[in-house]
Amino acid sequence: MRSHYCGDLRKEHIGEDITLTGWIHRRRDHGGVIFLDLRDREGLTQVVFDPDREESFALADSCRNEFVVEIKGTVRNRPEGTVNSEMPTGEIEVLGKEMVILNKSETPPFQLDEHQQVGEDVRLRNRFIDLRRPEMQEKLRFRSKVSNSIRNFLDDNGFLDIETPILNRATPEGARDYLVPSRVHEGHFFALPQSPQLFKQLLMVAGFDRYYQIAKCFRDEDLRADRQPEFTQIDIETSFMNEEEIMGITEKMIRKLFLELKGVELGEFPRMPYSEAMLRFGSDKPDLRFPMELVDVADLMAEIEFKVFAGPANDPKGRVAALKVPGGAKLTRKIIDEYTKFVGIYGAKGLAWIKVNELEKGAEGLQSPIVKFLGEEVAMAIMTRLGAENGDIIFFGADKEKVVSEALGALRIKVGEDLEMSEAEWAPLWVVDFPMFEETDKGGLTALHHPFTAPSCSPEALKESPLNALSRAYDMVLNGCELGGGSIRIHDQQMQSTVLEILGIDAEEADDKFGFLLDALKYGAPPHGGLAFGLDRLIMLMTGSDSIREVIAFPKTQSASCPLTEAPGEVSAAQLRELNIKLRKTP
Ligand code: AMO
Ligand code: AMP
Repeated sequence: MRSHYCGDLRKEHIGEDITLTGWIHRRRDHGGVIFLDLRDREGLTQVVFDPDREESFALADSCRNEFVVEIKGTVRNRPEGTVNSEMPTGEIEVLGKEMVILNKSETPPFQLDEHQQVGEDVRLRNRFIDLRRPEMQEKLRFRSKVSNSIRNFLDDNGFLDIETPILNRATPEGARDYLVPSRVHEGHFFALPQSPQLFKQLLMVAGFDRYYQIAKCFRDEDLRADRQPEFTQIDIETSFMNEEEIMGITEKMIRKLFLELKGVELGEFPRMPYSEAMLRFGSDKPDLRFPMELVDVADLMAEIEFKVFAGPANDPKGRVAALKVPGGAKLTRKIIDEYTKFVGIYGAKGLAWIKVNELEKGAEGLQSPIVKFLGEEVAMAIMTRLGAENGDIIFFGADKEKVVSEALGALRIKVGEDLEMSEAEWAPLWVVDFPMFEETDKGGLTALHHPFTAPSCSPEALKESPLNALSRAYDMVLNGCELGGGSIRIHDQQMQSTVLEILGIDAEEADDKFGFLLDALKYGAPPHGGLAFGLDRLIMLMTGSDSIREVIAFPKTQSASCPLTEAPGEVSAAQLRELNIKLRKTP
């Protein structure tokens, strides 16, 4: 039907007779002349109808927003003074000659430029309208370009795109499974993949050497801005490559992507051990755009009377740390109270602070609810350790290590954002040397990455002291967001059994759950490893979006439902009977 996309018309088309198709974005009546802004996926063009051509003028006049039309006309210069430099097509306009209304539209539930007023629920319920917005079109187009660039890179580097099943047995990635009842096998369920982890390992055992897949993954977990129940991974696995080589090639892929699609040169990514990240930034995904760091001060607090600090300072599992915010003395009481509430989310029981007003006056020159408990000597020792200067504020956390790290780590980012302290647009890094295991609240052990990750020590050393063992895992972090993670896997059956045993999975359970993997490891499994990037998170960061919902065509809400299709929905009694499922009434 069309000869050109609306958004493609430029000065060089002046004088051409063209045919456009698209949606009426806006209709304006300027004293006898009708202006239609016609929109398609490439952009907008202004079409002018004058009353000389009665028929098409009347049609143009009858058009309303979101009608679908076909327009024939001639491209011409915009008259002097009406050039719109904001619009890519702003130097030209089309003189409309013929017009066909291909379809009418009811008044849309919201106007495209009013999306902010209506709230996300209305947008998601009417996603087909919401996705018409140029911003959303641009995001999904960008997403397509990213997948394409990644496919090209991986293809050029010998990776094979291989699909893995969606109907599976459960794979333990740590989240809850989405289950699908089997009709044929009464009482049995498939689990949707939390990731293709075990299959990609089996593909390595099968000798494919380099695999990738842009794979849908499903996890029934608490949702946040960067988490969806259904999301997409760029999933990668390789054989005969060590962690340096895997990090090298995937870093190259991300660097190429940023250069190609954003013109950004990311440079070499620094490496940081997990323990250092926790100590300096209170996070395993540090946001290095902000310069502030956590500083430990437990040794200075060990002897003081103030139990809030002295307690954790003398507890081997405790931590007392300080965060200096340069120029933060200007923060008001109200804001400090808000920050105190904020760290409460992470379990902190308070947020002590010292404003550095006149350092030259000693403790006299410090404004704080706690200096009186610390005494002059300790207070000044803290000032020296932190390199405090007049105008700074120092925040303190004292509690179990995890609480302090998480609370001050999160505060660091919040304050950094509030005070606009970012020093770089992009701050990528690799976090390495993760512990193999962490303690659960119930006192057991759980794998920090997943149970197939290789330790960097022998099985004996691992058994001897599991909590001290490090893994061969690595995470790519960008601007405080975990973009991807992976590891060298265990390819030795003995080692795999040891790890499962440490995790409290006995031989019978191991055989029942991953017998197929343990079997495969017996038949010539090559050394292998890989990683997976979160495609949605990558696009979210690259497009500057606040949430991955903004870069997914049809996302779920925070409560894991789809307002558009109203999924999940009820099913008929007949369907349930066929599946041998009887619903229990919730009391
Ligand atoms: P992991 O669980 O770290 O590793 O996931 C890899 C990456 O996937 C993204 N991601 C998510 N994105 C959106 N919503 C979610 N709910 C969600 N969960 C994870 C993150 C994360 O870094 N099989 C391993 C990978 C491997 O070892 O090769 C795995 O799935 O960006
Ligand atoms: P209190 O004596 O409980 O009023 O506490 C004095 C100051 O210490 C207040 O500013 C509290 O917010 C702060 N505070 C209390 N508990 C902690 C904690 N666990 N970590 C850091 N600061 C705290």
